[in-house]
Amino acid sequence: MKKYRDIAGDGGSNIVGQVEAQQARLRSRLARIRRSVAVVSGKGGVGKSTVTANLAAAFALSGSAVGVLDADLNGPSMAKLLGIRGQPLTTGADGVEPPRSALGVRAMSMDLLLAGDRTPLAWEATTQAESHTWRGTMEANALREFLADTAWGDLDVLILDVAPGADRLPTVLGLVPGLAGVVVVTIPSEVSHLVVGKSITAARQAGAAVLGLVENMAGYVCADCGAVNPLFSGPGGQALAAEFGVPFLGAVPFDPRLAAAADRGLAFVAADAQTPAARALLALAATLRAALEPAAGARA
Ligand SMILES: Nc1ncnc2c1ncn2[C@@H]1O[C@H](COP(=O)(O)OP(=O)(O)OP(=O)(O)O)[C@@H](O)[C@H]1O
Ligand SMILES: [Mg+2]
Repeated sequence: MKKYRDIAGDGGSNIVGQVEAQQARLRSRLARIRRSVAVVSGKGGVGKSTVTANLAAAFALSGSAVGVLDADLNGPSMAKLLGIRGQPLTTGADGVEPPRSALGVRAMSMDLLLAGDRTPLAWEATTQAESHTWRGTMEANALREFLADTAWGDLDVLILDVAPGADRLPTVLGLVPGLAGVVVVTIPSEVSHLVVGKSITAARQAGAAVLGLVENMAGYVCADCGAVNPLFSGPGGQALAAEFGVPFLGAVPFDPRLAAAADRGLAFVAADAQTPAARALLALAATLRAALEPAAGARA
């Protein structure tokens, strides 16, 4: 197979130069990010984006410089969750300025590029019937640009909200080889555990460290009496974590106020800090920080 370098002439586009320049940009961006973590789940709708937004807010509240990369290109929700939807992107000397949430979380998302557009993303191909063959490559290219062309600055932590599906992580790992690890999200149902177990295996096979498992929607807190009622009949996240030998990071109960805050782009951990769900998310952030710190200390 021919490599770029073997091709005589490129019509003046200097494609090798462009690729090398982008890779150099990516390396220098990543060098200024102390830790990167991917939030994943093979299962859709279990709360990956909600956990990402609230972890980011919790880290920001404790003084960290935080970035969020919305790696879900066709179902982007981070701009909405962080309350920055519709903010215009501006380009500075160092690249595209990531809009900041009220707590200062820097974010990049396809939603910021396609503001207001309600049509799904379609990758260009000779015919749309063939577009699936390009999807993986085009998604990787788009994510590489998000990482390389965004002026992230110095970050303590970058959190990547990965699209549902156990097959998405290798792309992220290819782009961020120094990824500290993944946080896996599940809900307490057998259906979820079946799929999420595959995500843990897939993460390991891809060579990613599994920092731990989060159980979301772990019961419903009765607003009047404070009792926690089960929502699902399945086994708890602790059992899944034990089965796969990964740390259990914590359980976050279902709380309609959390969904309402998300819809309004408010940081729930700050706005409703005293609720059981917010306390659980803040504890989760503290546990994750502790899991990240020893490695960070060793590097410093
Ligand atoms: N603990 C919770 N309590 C109440 N609502 C929640 C909770 N966690 C998530 N939600 C709500 O559930 C919905 C799905 O959450 P979210 O979008 O974070 O899931 P996701 O895993 O990122 O989905 P997708 O797979 O589509 O990316 C959202 O409306 C969110 O506000
Ligand atoms: Mg999501």
